[in-house]
Amino acid sequence: MSETGPAGIQACVFDAYGTLFDVNAAARGCAETLGETWPAFAELWRGRQLQYSWLRGLGGRHTSFWQVTQDALDHALDAFGRNGETGLRQTLLDLYFHLGAYPEVADVLGRLKATGLRTAILSNGSRDMLDAAVDSAGIGGLLDAVISVDEVGVFKPHPSVYDLPVRAFGLSPDRMSFQSSNGWDAWSASAHGYRVVWVNRQGQVPERLPGQPDHVVSDLSALPGLLGLDT
Ligand code: LAC
Repeated sequence: MSETGPAGIQACVFDAYGTLFDVNAAARGCAETLGETWPAFAELWRGRQLQYSWLRGLGGRHTSFWQVTQDALDHALDAFGRNGETGLRQTLLDLYFHLGAYPEVADVLGRLKATGLRTAILSNGSRDMLDAAVDSAGIGGLLDAVISVDEVGVFKPHPSVYDLPVRAFGLSPDRMSFQSSNGWDAWSASAHGYRVVWVNRQGQVPERLPGQPDHVVSDLSALPGLLGLDT
């Protein structure tokens, strides 16, 4: 493929949870039951989900992200005194399994695809979770690859995860733009050699890790412009 965009970017790789899929939607969907503390509940659930993924990696006890998601949910239910409530756990898990995408996602992916760029998800999510979320969001036709860490059996930010799109597309990292809302993921992809757009949806302060995102945006709608593809 010839050069695409000013930096010769030929593929766009996206983190899934928090970047394409609205991770808070599950707890928000149970706001009537959880009450006004649902955002704090969502934050604890997400925080533990990530911490458990890193701790399992460090401890050499990898498991699927779906298991980690359930363990983190059980912790949050305990912390909020909601464990054992009929139907609540299962409802939250069902909602999480079928998360929708943020509003701009389908349009942005469509615009990228229209210019010939290749597109992929690179996620901690297990294969079944990702397939279900991609289906729910209706974006399967806009993605060339959905890459799960299941292929390497270790979570981000292990370097072997960031090598997966390199192998899938046969492109060096500097020919790909990596988008993540997770600062630690954005910094780690940058340290691996990707061009990086940090999708700072939550207005967080920068991380202090190896790497440095090339751009910071508040959602994905600016991405085609950053790649010089605005039409
Ligand atoms: C993912 C998590 C980290 O999708 O958001 O990989």
